[in-house]
Amino acid sequence: MKIAIVGATGMVGTVLLKVLEERNFPISQLLPVASEKSVGKELTYKGKKHKIVSMLDAIAAKPAIAIFSAGGGTSLEWAPKFAEVGTTVVDNSSAWRMDATKKLVVPEINASTLTKEDKIIANPNCSTIQMVMALAPLHDKYKMKRVVVSTYQSVSGTGVKAVKQMENEQNGIKGDMAYPYPIHQNAIPHCDVFEENGYTKEEMKLAREPQKILDDRSFSISATAVRIPTSGGHSESVNVEFIEDFDLAEIRQILHNTQGITLQDNTDTNTYPMPIYANGKDDVFVGRLRRDETQQNTLNMWIVSDNLRKGAATNAVQIAEYLVEKELV
Ligand SMILES: NC(=O)c1ccc[n+]([C@@H]2O[C@H](COP(=O)([O-])OP(=O)(O)OC[C@H]3O[C@@H](n4cnc5c(N)ncnc54)[C@H](OP(=O)(O)O)[C@@H]3O)[C@@H](O)[C@H]2O)c1
Repeated sequence: MKIAIVGATGMVGTVLLKVLEERNFPISQLLPVASEKSVGKELTYKGKKHKIVSMLDAIAAKPAIAIFSAGGGTSLEWAPKFAEVGTTVVDNSSAWRMDATKKLVVPEINASTLTKEDKIIANPNCSTIQMVMALAPLHDKYKMKRVVVSTYQSVSGTGVKAVKQMENEQNGIKGDMAYPYPIHQNAIPHCDVFEENGYTKEEMKLAREPQKILDDRSFSISATAVRIPTSGGHSESVNVEFIEDFDLAEIRQILHNTQGITLQDNTDTNTYPMPIYANGKDDVFVGRLRRDETQQNTLNMWIVSDNLRKGAATNAVQIAEYLVEKELV
């Protein structure tokens, strides 16, 4: 089938092409789209050169699926135009996530809600996906009451410009800044823009998106999002209070049995998730499981995942695969 990749030259777009190739997604014609400055340039997919086309040319080709990762403004403007010609859009930006008429999908959790009528489907925020992957099976069993999460987020989550800023600073080169401060040897408690309540937009995504994905507003989430100088994946310290009491061995078993989760939890062997191991992998890694000894029914855990893979590209491709498998496109 014809498939458009909007933002094909970016951090997420590049990984998307890799994931489509690895999973042998059935593509008859690939339409890579980027900004006007990139139109006409070439990129390689499955060993063949492909010309980057304009948004209008991609729409004229009426692809079955368009996967967007080109920023919220681009999605707001162009996703409806693809939808109008019958294309199903899977959007990686935050543009449509909290729109009540659009589904917010992590395939392992709620792909079954998708229908042929869903022409714009939102991919959740990268930090949300990895957290909700671990929380969903535990919520099913013990019912979450409150979650407190602190993130340690990779510069690859901000895009090409941020990775360049970190590399320049590591090499003592002056260049464009993606952040208001140096990121090398620093931790910046500021991901995305500040909102009126003093939280950042990233923190509010972590608070709101899981409720929509799990279709449950009975629990609350408080988040602090921090950018750190790593590039392989996001890490999260998660404290979760449940309504029901739990058994740690049972929690380990549940996570072990959950598709898409790899348990790395053995303090005897210093086994725990880290971005250098999650980098380039599709799973969400969970470890450091322990009871919070200060409060009843409360668990601490550490969650790491490659933000460009399960946090963006892999999740989007899994949605596309579901659409094909269920003949929804
Ligand atoms: N990085 C992550 O971990 C992550 C995770 C989840 C979601 N996302 C979301 O995915 C999107 C892209 O993120 P990224 O990190 O890949 O950013 P990026 O590296 O800066 O790439 C941006 C891409 O968008 C293209 N683009 C920019 N303006 C465009 C326009 N007007 N029309 C068509 N294409 C345009 C760029 O093309 P040129 O090369 O021509 O400039 C480039 O291909 C963002 O919405 C981000 O929030 C990112």
